[in-house]
Amino acid sequence: MDEHRIETERLTLRPPQPQDADEVQRLAGDFRIADVTRSIPHPYPPELAQQWIARCTQDWLDGKAASFVIIETGSGQLVGSITLKDIGRGEAEVGYWIGVPYWSRGYASEACNALVDFAFRQLRLRRLYASHLARNPQSGRVLFKAGFRHLGLGHSECGSQGKVEPVELYERVSGE
Ligand SMILES: CC(C)(COP(=O)(O)OP(=O)(O)OC[C@H]1O[C@@H](n2cnc3c(N)ncnc32)[C@H](O)[C@@H]1OP(=O)(O)O)[C@@H](O)C(=O)NCCC(=O)NCCS
Repeated sequence: MDEHRIETERLTLRPPQPQDADEVQRLAGDFRIADVTRSIPHPYPPELAQQWIARCTQDWLDGKAASFVIIETGSGQLVGSITLKDIGRGEAEVGYWIGVPYWSRGYASEACNALVDFAFRQLRLRRLYASHLARNPQSGRVLFKAGFRHLGLGHSECGSQGKVEPVELYERVSGE
């Protein structure tokens, strides 16, 4: 797979690079991010951002994941991250976070819409799936606005505390 990069009206989605580590750590280190995501611990260990960036590079080369940092094109500011995880059998899981100072600007929705397009057109995937904690409905709005269909309620280990909690499940199939 070649280098991946997506441009939207206000955002640039590009592969994470080593120089992004400090900003990733600062933003992902906020408890409000770790609280509702599966893979982000709290407190956020100092070396984790560099490890995550290295893994993103390797997973892309292996065809296992496509991870992007989300950059405000105008300012060059890193505002979040979005990923196609567990790519295989024509499917992938979508995950994302936006740094708290940048919430409610429509960035997650703009990035997710662009990622869906990339997944279906560039990677030729056929199905995307996602989930969010039931107590985190704004993530459901992001998925709904990106054309995902609500499948129902499940239970998953999610959030930095590793508790089993109710999650809402979603999918989007190519061509729908
Ligand atoms: C969920 C998240 C990605 C949304 O990012 P965002 O850039 O603020 O989202 P958008 O601006 O595109 O808004 C999406 C919806 O959430 C709503 N929303 C945004 N911030 C909100 C807040 N603080 N409280 C309630 N609703 C909020 C918006 O109103 C919008 O809904 P609408 O279209 O009905 O108006 C962000 O809050 C986040 O990173 N949260 C922590 C990590 C996380 O939840 N990741 C997803 C795990 S499944």
